[in-house]
Amino acid sequence: MAIRNVREMGDPVLNKICKEVKEMTPRTRELIDDMFDTMYEEGGVGLAANQVGILKRIVVIDVTGEDPVLLINPEILETSGEQVGNEGCLSVPGKAGVVRRPNYVKVKACDRELNTFELEGTELLARAICHEVEHLEGHLYVEKVEGGLKDVEDIEEEEEEALELEDDFADFDSVLDD
Ligand code: NI
Repeated sequence: MAIRNVREMGDPVLNKICKEVKEMTPRTRELIDDMFDTMYEEGGVGLAANQVGILKRIVVIDVTGEDPVLLINPEILETSGEQVGNEGCLSVPGKAGVVRRPNYVKVKACDRELNTFELEGTELLARAICHEVEHLEGHLYVEKVEGGLKDVEDIEEEEEEALELEDDFADFDSVLDD
């Protein structure tokens, strides 16, 4: 197991279409283990194989830190609803932007033994599945960003201000209650 180098936007490997995994080999198993290690090490919620320079249709996701999901040859079967929120990517460090995604996704994929299974996800998991499957098609979320790409630091500042604003309202409410 090892931490692999995450490729950053501008690296042409991120714009390549990944190839179907047709057999499981020790090398592919090692890649999968390394992808999980790399995702956890870098603090991401998902990672696609081309982000570590390998053109295979393999995705790892963990939206809670305790629910590792491996998707080999993933195929989105169904989507519904909508969510709008900030999204980031390990290949675009320090940046984030607002992306519109379905709020529900059903995906078909293969597991480590190449057995097919289906997985349903909502909210962050649905967002992560869409984001990672697009990586395998050579696309980055920055293509879909509404309102431009922002620095994560600025977004955190905005969120702090929003929280302070909420506090002000809370105070106002309590005054009215009295
Ligand atoms: Ni990404």
